[in-house]
Amino acid sequence: MRIGFFDSGIGGLTVLAEALRMMPDKDFLYMADRLHVPYGTKPQDEVKSYIFEAVGDMMKEGIDALVVACNTATSIAINELRETYALPIVGMEPAVKPAVEMIRATGKRVLVFATPLTLQLPKYYALVSRVDEKGMVDSLPLPELVQYCESLQFDRKVMNDYFRSKLSAYELDNYGIIVLGCTHYPFYTDILREVLPPHIEIVDGNLGTVKRLSALISRYGIPGGGGSGDVKFMCTGGDPAYIDKMQTALALLQRKQGVPE
Ligand code: DGL
Repeated sequence: MRIGFFDSGIGGLTVLAEALRMMPDKDFLYMADRLHVPYGTKPQDEVKSYIFEAVGDMMKEGIDALVVACNTATSIAINELRETYALPIVGMEPAVKPAVEMIRATGKRVLVFATPLTLQLPKYYALVSRVDEKGMVDSLPLPELVQYCESLQFDRKVMNDYFRSKLSAYELDNYGIIVLGCTHYPFYTDILREVLPPHIEIVDGNLGTVKRLSALISRYGIPGGGGSGDVKFMCTGGDPAYIDKMQTALALLQRKQGVPE
């Protein structure tokens, strides 16, 4: 079986890397909407039409399940995608619920990083209102971070300075967890680790998403296996240099996971 992963750019590779580790007997199709990244600073209706166009192209290639490996796209289009396509579709949302549960013991606050669009959409507001009874969750949009990631900006000094300036207004002793609510952000987990006090945990929703994918596939009774962890890369506009970039970025993530090359 072949599972499609969709994101605006290379962010969804952080989820795909987890899927490759957990489901090596599947094949994958990865689609990046290179022509329109970043989504998180654009108007919602515009982004919705980009999502449907790109996902439509993926469907023509043939996939058995779809992971919307993008928090922003999930917030905008997950319901309509499920109404449009009759295959298992898994979306992503910032891992606010587990974070709130985890901090119950320490009484410290939660800080959610995500794109401006994710944080301003009703889905996020509804999520926080549902789980944050005590008003312990704060949100910080990081509009520049997707662009840094897309240009493979991993210089430690540049990125340290960026995170320090973004966090300068926060009293970090009051926080116990940072939630990465955009799939591009886990590329920076190790750099962020250097900036944060050691007591702050960094969480993302990637492993949880792959577990949900696995459960959903079994529920649909789709015959598993038959694949070998093969990944086909696609992007809007079909740019070979961007395909190379996706391969480089995936290899980087797999090195971080300790996968032999
Ligand atoms: N990686 C995406 C997310 O999880 C979107 C980033 C963007 O295009 O702004 O939100």
